[in-house]
Amino acid sequence: MLRPPSMPRPTILINFAITADGKISTVNKDPAHFTSKRDLQRLLEIRRRADALLVGRGTLEADAMSMTIPSKLKPSGQPLRCIVSRAGRFALGHKVFHTKGGALHLLATEATEDYDSFSYEAAGATVHRSSLAAFLTTMATDYGVETMLCEGGGTLVKALAELEAIDEINLTFAGHTLFGGADAPTITGHLGAHLPASLEFELTHFEPLDNGECFLTYQRKKDRAT
Ligand SMILES: NC(=O)c1ccc[n+]([C@@H]2O[C@H](COP(=O)([O-])OP(=O)(O)OC[C@H]3O[C@@H](n4cnc5c(N)ncnc54)[C@H](OP(=O)(O)O)[C@@H]3O)[C@@H](O)[C@H]2O)c1
Repeated sequence: MLRPPSMPRPTILINFAITADGKISTVNKDPAHFTSKRDLQRLLEIRRRADALLVGRGTLEADAMSMTIPSKLKPSGQPLRCIVSRAGRFALGHKVFHTKGGALHLLATEATEDYDSFSYEAAGATVHRSSLAAFLTTMATDYGVETMLCEGGGTLVKALAELEAIDEINLTFAGHTLFGGADAPTITGHLGAHLPASLEFELTHFEPLDNGECFLTYQRKKDRAT
């Protein structure tokens, strides 16, 4: 699954809130709420650095995301909105299709021969049928995406980690919350499904807050392999 070193891709940031026991959601994958106003503020600041946002279909639906920067923040533009699925079946009633924002790019990595992208294209989206690795290259080379922010979930981030395609990790450590449960996911999905090798990051930002939370940023340590 490793990508050839020559394939360009955007610089990829991820952002998550994690509990004191390192979980990103409950056993039932309930919607993730912002842990505090400052957690939301920080997410929006990180979004402003991104040319494109990336989420898995699970997170899009669980968290009812519109994937936009509020206009009251006067963003210079809205980041592209990229959503990843294997089968490529998206709910057209979802608010992301009905909210003004960056152009929508849907990725179907394992669509069947008879896959029909027409309804999504009619709704204004561009549909891509390729691997995740090839999609990252397309977004960099054809759409000029230099910085991409992945907002989850763990399943998608694990795939990015397997591609060695994570450059910066932003965490809100919510020390006031414990989810518990062996099946509650972490930032790389369910425990037990380990990465083939450890990835090294260094802590570059450590900001304890007075509300039981702490903002952390990590950068990939060695020269990125991809
Ligand atoms: N605490 C936080 O900051 C935070 C952040 C994000 C999410 N979450 C939580 O995480 C939970 C969702 O987790 P999740 O792991 O199910 O989310 P996910 O990765 O967003 O969604 C999983 C789905 O996305 C698609 N997908 C993911 N990786 C793919 C890949 N490499 N190739 C093709 N398709 C891929 C697949 O869709 P198809 O089924 O269509 O194939 C898969 O079933 C929710 O409870 C959410 O609230 C928490």
